[in-house]
Amino acid sequence: MSKPTLERPGHISLSPVPETTLNLYTQKEPLSATVVDKYRISDLSSPNYCWHVVLDISASQMARKYRIGQSVGVIPTGRFHNAEFNLAHNQIRKGTLARKIRLYSIASTCWGDDWEGNTISLCIKREISEDIESGELVMGAASNYICDVAIGDQVMITGPVGKSFLLPDNPLDYNYVFAATGTGIAPYRGMLIELFNQGFEKEAWLFFGVPYSTDILYDDEFRYFADRHSNFHYVTAISREQKNDQGKRMYVQDRLAQYADQLVSLLNQPTTLMYLCGLKGMEYGIYPWLYSIGSNLVNLPDGLSIQDIQDLPRSSKEWPRIERARDKDRLFKETY
Ligand code: A2P
Repeated sequence: MSKPTLERPGHISLSPVPETTLNLYTQKEPLSATVVDKYRISDLSSPNYCWHVVLDISASQMARKYRIGQSVGVIPTGRFHNAEFNLAHNQIRKGTLARKIRLYSIASTCWGDDWEGNTISLCIKREISEDIESGELVMGAASNYICDVAIGDQVMITGPVGKSFLLPDNPLDYNYVFAATGTGIAPYRGMLIELFNQGFEKEAWLFFGVPYSTDILYDDEFRYFADRHSNFHYVTAISREQKNDQGKRMYVQDRLAQYADQLVSLLNQPTTLMYLCGLKGMEYGIYPWLYSIGSNLVNLPDGLSIQDIQDLPRSSKEWPRIERARDKDRLFKETY
């Protein structure tokens, strides 16, 4: 259990970030990667059990070939008690197949946590809930499988997947506004390590929403960068401990609104990119805010006014149109 260094060791030179490569490994021909490190990243007192899992991918085609912002698939093998339990449960309840792949965002840069390009890291929260009708325990097969692995175990992975949530090819030329909820923070960890180790000098904001302060993931790493780089602004929204201006739960979109003075002109610059990663619900708060500040990241779909969008319920069928009307070259999203 060792925390990775956030600064590139002197002897490592940062060659260009690789071209975007897709699907080097598939469900039919997955990569067997070895678990080399694993540690809890939510506080020990938190019931949201989140783990940082580091896999050795050296000598594979994926080494140095994935890009931060991409995902990999994890194939739960059923070797572990929890996964077996849930796969059986799913098969009975929903008829879903065992060995279903679950995608997870990569949380390391292409240089890995070892800076040699031998590893890939994942940030995973155990999915644990109860079936509403039966009260039976439901455990996510893939998340519990990967959180249960031990150092030395082999994990079957596929990918890399995704080409629309990446840093641009010339990342130092842009400003960034990153917004995340929960484990949606994963890609930003690697992005920030990558940016600051390449000499990033423009502006970067990170808005991070979690239920309790015990659930803030990689807090020490983000503070590390915030302490050293005045161009990095790190803001948390702790929904169940803090209240927004209306006395409701504090969400990332409320924090964005609080920092509007500093964000409005920044967000309108053509060299500013915005990224949303995490709960889909975040979009229903962030789009209306972007319209309200007259942001050029969003465009009005035909027949809708800004007021219409402010008043739109989450169930509205207009949301996909609003989503499509964003500037897709500058506003990226990976929500679920
Ligand atoms: P809450 O659940 O308190 O309402 P996690 O994935 O670890 O559960 O964290 C998700 C975070 O995102 C929580 O703080 C959660 O708040 C918050 N959240 C829930 N719904 C929304 C939404 N519609 N917009 C923004 N944040 C949200």
